[in-house]
Amino acid sequence: MPKKETADSVLAHTEAKLQFYTKYLERYLQILLAAKDVNKINIYDLYCGAGRYSDGQTGSAVRAVEAVSSAQAKITTDKVINLHLNDLNAAKVKKLRNLLAGKDSSEKQFFITFSRYEAFDLLKKIASKLPAQDRHTRNLIFIDPYGYKDIDKENLEAVLVTGRTELVLFLPIEQMYRFRLKAIDDEVDNPYIPLKNFIEQFELDVTKITSEKEFIVALESALKFQGKFFTASYSIRNHNRHLYGMFFITSHLYGLEKIVEVKWELDSQKGQGFTGENQLDIFLETDRLSVLRKAITALVSNGEADNLTLYELVIRKGFLPKHGNNVLRELCAEEVLYAIDAVERKSVRKGAYKLNYKEYKSRKPSVFFREGPGKKL
Ligand SMILES: C[S@@+](CC[C@H](N)C(=O)[O-])C[C@H]1O[C@@H](n2cnc3c(N)ncnc32)[C@H](O)[C@@H]1O
Repeated sequence: MPKKETADSVLAHTEAKLQFYTKYLERYLQILLAAKDVNKINIYDLYCGAGRYSDGQTGSAVRAVEAVSSAQAKITTDKVINLHLNDLNAAKVKKLRNLLAGKDSSEKQFFITFSRYEAFDLLKKIASKLPAQDRHTRNLIFIDPYGYKDIDKENLEAVLVTGRTELVLFLPIEQMYRFRLKAIDDEVDNPYIPLKNFIEQFELDVTKITSEKEFIVALESALKFQGKFFTASYSIRNHNRHLYGMFFITSHLYGLEKIVEVKWELDSQKGQGFTGENQLDIFLETDRLSVLRKAITALVSNGEADNLTLYELVIRKGFLPKHGNNVLRELCAEEVLYAIDAVERKSVRKGAYKLNYKEYKSRKPSVFFREGPGKKL
């Protein structure tokens, strides 16, 4: 028998949610602590909870502190890290303050602050300060609510537009999908009206969406705000088979690569309680590699493919460079396409396709891909 779901314990699907956030946070911190053009990192947990559940397991706030400590132990810098923890519930904030007493360190430039705002009021406050923020600052916002009464497209966009903020958002997909076609004056449970309004703000044509899976894909696409941002989604089914979605929004392709890494890392743990058949449908590697193969073949047949465009395609489609390399190796071996060194104009060694962010950032293609068998080495 599955354990009863309570608000005060960490079941497998909650663990999956927390890992999606914290595994990204660990990567984010390590990259930004090492980045030359960043000197301050702000992490905002808008619905932080009390830090520890009654079953003894830790919540997002404590895990974020651990992620910061571990990143600072690996990389020594004098960069400032601010962790801002917010929850409307005063008792939870008090408990959390006690739990985290002494965990920050002015010597290490790690500061923890607390507040008890309505989360979306805090989001507006953050947005109003962003235009004046030093361009060497980066922000990560985690939105993990119980209720969604204030969720609003404009407020999300307002924190994203400077290009220095990334966002992790948890949404109850099943309910959103179930209520998508109900008119607002129908008997829609009150808590879902704001979510319904939220979807309408994106002008999604929900009549054409016929499954939860399609709904996640449509939301992931809508959250790109007409191509302004990169997005990723990760579905989580709980023990009662209710479906939830984690959504990630960033202005940076490298951020997208990192969350794609997290998705594949979590997915390799399938069968541990939060994955079900639906999860396998969406994320199973073998199924999905054929999608990547088709996309790569199409790009190459358009004649525009180099290592930069292919890297971007691979990450945007939710794959890792190693998947791209495997598909390219296969396509080259089958003589569907060939790879040429951009400088020396000769075939490149098998596997040296240079699909990575460093090359992408250089903006100079170093490998071209063309249809056909090419010349043998
Ligand atoms: C799903 S829990 C967050 C769990 C937390 N991320 C963790 O890992 O422990 C949602 C939290 O939001 C708080 N909350 C509910 N409504 C809120 C609001 N309007 N603004 C801010 N916090 C709110 C609740 O007190 C609760 O602690």
